[in-house]
Amino acid sequence: MLFNPTGFTECLREWEDLEKNHQQMQDTHRSYKQKLEEVAKLQDSCSGAIARQRKKLKELTASLEECKENHPTPKLNPEDVDAIAEIEDSIKERADAFSEMEAFLPKKNGLYLTLVLGNVNVTLLNKQSKFAYKDEYEKFKLVLTVILFVFSFTCRFLFSYRALDALFNFLLVWYYCTLTIRESVLISNGSRIKGWWVFHHYVSTFQSGVMLTWPEGALYQMFRNQFLTNCLYQSFVQFLQYYYQSGCLYRLRALGEKHNMDVTVEGFQSWMWRGLTFLLPFLFFGHFWQLYNSITLFRMFQLPECKEWQVVMCCCSYVVLFMGNFFTTLGVVYQKYMNNQDKSKIL
Ligand code: COA
Repeated sequence: MLFNPTGFTECLREWEDLEKNHQQMQDTHRSYKQKLEEVAKLQDSCSGAIARQRKKLKELTASLEECKENHPTPKLNPEDVDAIAEIEDSIKERADAFSEMEAFLPKKNGLYLTLVLGNVNVTLLNKQSKFAYKDEYEKFKLVLTVILFVFSFTCRFLFSYRALDALFNFLLVWYYCTLTIRESVLISNGSRIKGWWVFHHYVSTFQSGVMLTWPEGALYQMFRNQFLTNCLYQSFVQFLQYYYQSGCLYRLRALGEKHNMDVTVEGFQSWMWRGLTFLLPFLFFGHFWQLYNSITLFRMFQLPECKEWQVVMCCCSYVVLFMGNFFTTLGVVYQKYMNNQDKSKIL
């Protein structure tokens, strides 16, 4: 092979450029590491300051209570009483402000996340990443909903094999387990998901696990079609829920400020109510189907040939699911209605 001096000069120039870039890259990385250390120090100092403030505010609240008890109202002059009430209101507002701050600070995981993931930091440090994570969670649910819909349709109408049913139930166990982990991460990142919705997924994991172990037999076949049709319906409702939840998420994001429902979010409020009134009949129908499942299982449990423990376990899980879902949904709607009323009064 012939030696090409022009090619070699170009290689040398290229190498010098790369060297220079490498130097710059190292400087940038050094400054990045330095900034990370600064961020870690700032995080520690913020967390420490919040903990100190919380402790002092707690002590102050106790002292104010003592002042009020030791000096009943007639002895305190009206200005003092007003001042105490004002301080107490401000202390309550501080608690919310601390929670907002903590949503952007690393914190210790709860017991469940520590058991599943170990003590790794799951706090996302900016709003975009939090939004992206929540968005990804909703999309994950959507994809799995479609898969579960197709799977349950196949088991219900096309193939009737116990092994295929077991695979379907195994997928359900995995899906619900994954949801509990993702939801714990979301809560760590300031999401206001009610405890019941997470607990609901623990119960669903348990129930799918029980279905997985239910042996083939007359009783299994008696309940199978009702169970699979119910799964089909739940996937359909989950699809409607996705449309509503992701709609809320995008609209709230567009408004820029979450958890702050003032007059500027009137449009969002009316969209939300339209979405909810459309969704609620489907949700309540699903809840009463869960109750119906538990009644069916209870009747099966009373049959003399019923030997399987799975019948009573599934029956109990459906009762728990019905009660939790129904009453929590009622509570959510009532809470939203009251918030709406308060806002109308302010306006
Ligand atoms: N699963 C997971 N997260 C939920 C949730 C659910 N079922 N319901 C609400 N959330 C989340 C919201 O996304 C929101 O999260 P964010 O703080 O990160 O934005 C937070 O909890 C607060 O939501 P909230 O304002 O209380 O309710 P909503 O308007 O988002 O939804 C319902 C209200 C009633 C539509 C919703 O709770 C729901 O679909 N419930 C029924 C679920 C059910 O019964 N499933 C079984 C069907 S058979």
